[in-house]
Amino acid sequence: MHEVAAVNPWEALAYLVSGVLFILALRGLSSPASSRRGNRYGMAGMAIAVVTTLVTHELANPIEVLGAIAIGAVIGVVMARKIAMTAMPQLVAAFHSLVGLAAVAVAAAAYLNPIAFGIADASGQIFTVSRVEMGLGIAIGAITFSGSVIAFLKLNGNMSGAPIMLPLRHLINLGTLAGILGLVAYFTMDQSPWVFWTVTGLSFVIGFLLIIPIGGADMPVVVSMLNSYSGWAAAAMGFTLGNTAMIITGALVGASGAILSYIMCKAMNRSFISVIAGGFGADDAGAAGGGSKEQRPWKPGSADDAAFLMSQAENVIIVPGYGMAVAQAQHALREMADLLKKEGVNVKYAIHPVAGRMPGHMNVLLAEANVPYDEVFELEDINNEFAQCDVAFVIGANDVTNPSAKTDKSSPIYGMPVLDVEKAKTVLFVKRSMGGVGYAGVDNDVFYMDQTMMLLGDAKKMADDIVKALNGGGH
Ligand code: TAP
Repeated sequence: MHEVAAVNPWEALAYLVSGVLFILALRGLSSPASSRRGNRYGMAGMAIAVVTTLVTHELANPIEVLGAIAIGAVIGVVMARKIAMTAMPQLVAAFHSLVGLAAVAVAAAAYLNPIAFGIADASGQIFTVSRVEMGLGIAIGAITFSGSVIAFLKLNGNMSGAPIMLPLRHLINLGTLAGILGLVAYFTMDQSPWVFWTVTGLSFVIGFLLIIPIGGADMPVVVSMLNSYSGWAAAAMGFTLGNTAMIITGALVGASGAILSYIMCKAMNRSFISVIAGGFGADDAGAAGGGSKEQRPWKPGSADDAAFLMSQAENVIIVPGYGMAVAQAQHALREMADLLKKEGVNVKYAIHPVAGRMPGHMNVLLAEANVPYDEVFELEDINNEFAQCDVAFVIGANDVTNPSAKTDKSSPIYGMPVLDVEKAKTVLFVKRSMGGVGYAGVDNDVFYMDQTMMLLGDAKKMADDIVKALNGGGH
């Protein structure tokens, strides 16, 4: 064990307080009602951690450090203000890549100057435990970096979301992973530069190889998995730097990312190992369920029809999805629900765990539009109510309602639990055109069912028009 410099008790206390604030932040973020408070706890925790680090360390070049913080803060504020809600997943992936890169940079700095970091004896021999931390830190950091860059490019549409399958990929991946682990073990005996840099290079490569075969439909799991990796990379670096705040924060991010990945895998009925091993959603994704969609008959409807059908109904279940988010239709939707409730209709919202493009996406938007929380239900709590409901009003959702997930083994979303909208007496389906598909790129049989009426148009405009019709004005 290497000796950790005696810790200033005030420093330890401050880091402990910031750790507690981070835990309270996670707790607050578990519900939209308390998420603002959660964010404030997180900001306070981070401010305490940063200030403590700055005042307890002798800064070789304060101008450089404070300048870097200021530049980072400006970039952060501008991005947070500008970013569209729908572009959140790629922003998160971009942030993870930076955490990975930071871990690589810290490990490289510590490797090149171990005495300054207090992790080597006077002759420059790095302590064994530090070599393990450093080896693992750089490996996880590099994997996080290159994996997140690929996830960003796929989510941002700069790279096709389709899985890229290399021949023998499982063999190549396993061989590379074994090579990395073997070299990290060897690094404890030999700290030569070739060992360190080969681990770094192989880890960059494996991050890339692990993510390219993963299809678009599984990207949400990948993003939360990379989130978890970025946490472990930071924790490993916390050990190298002897910084307890980094260890605590890294472990919190690592654990919460892993739990989120598990929840998402369950929501999509995927095995975690298969997602990481890659290739899910890979079987002929584009063609699955496609068929001759242009030829199949479907029934068009108008906002007036929808207003009439829903005002006559006893129970209406609203299913929002990505299209509602893009169109920012949540306020108009809430207004529509209010008018229906005034007419005595029982209105509920059904939220699929992966509706939209990020966990909790729909909940956040509905909360923003002041939809009461007790009208919003998760999939498992509402799915058996579709069979009794008069109208399922699907607005900008597609994959999360696709029954082929239950029946068609060739579908890229096969096995994902979906909302049983087809069981409702009437389905009203809002989307812009019959040609448009959802995230997984597959056609949806619900469009062509007898009880379905297609309301083609922008989600916000359609909801506004239905509101006008309900108000008796027509449009
Ligand atoms: P999608 O399957 O992506 O379907 C979106 C639908 O909205 C499409 O039918 C599209 O049809 C329509 N649309 C788009 N813009 C619209 C607008 N302005 N007005 C009206 N309609 C519009 O959405 P979903 O059902 O929410 O499913 C989510 C999918 O994203 C799942 O496959 C999930 O795995 C994936 N995903 C989820 C996450 C998380 S964590 N939630 C992250 C990444 C990926 P038109 O083009 O014809 O309008």
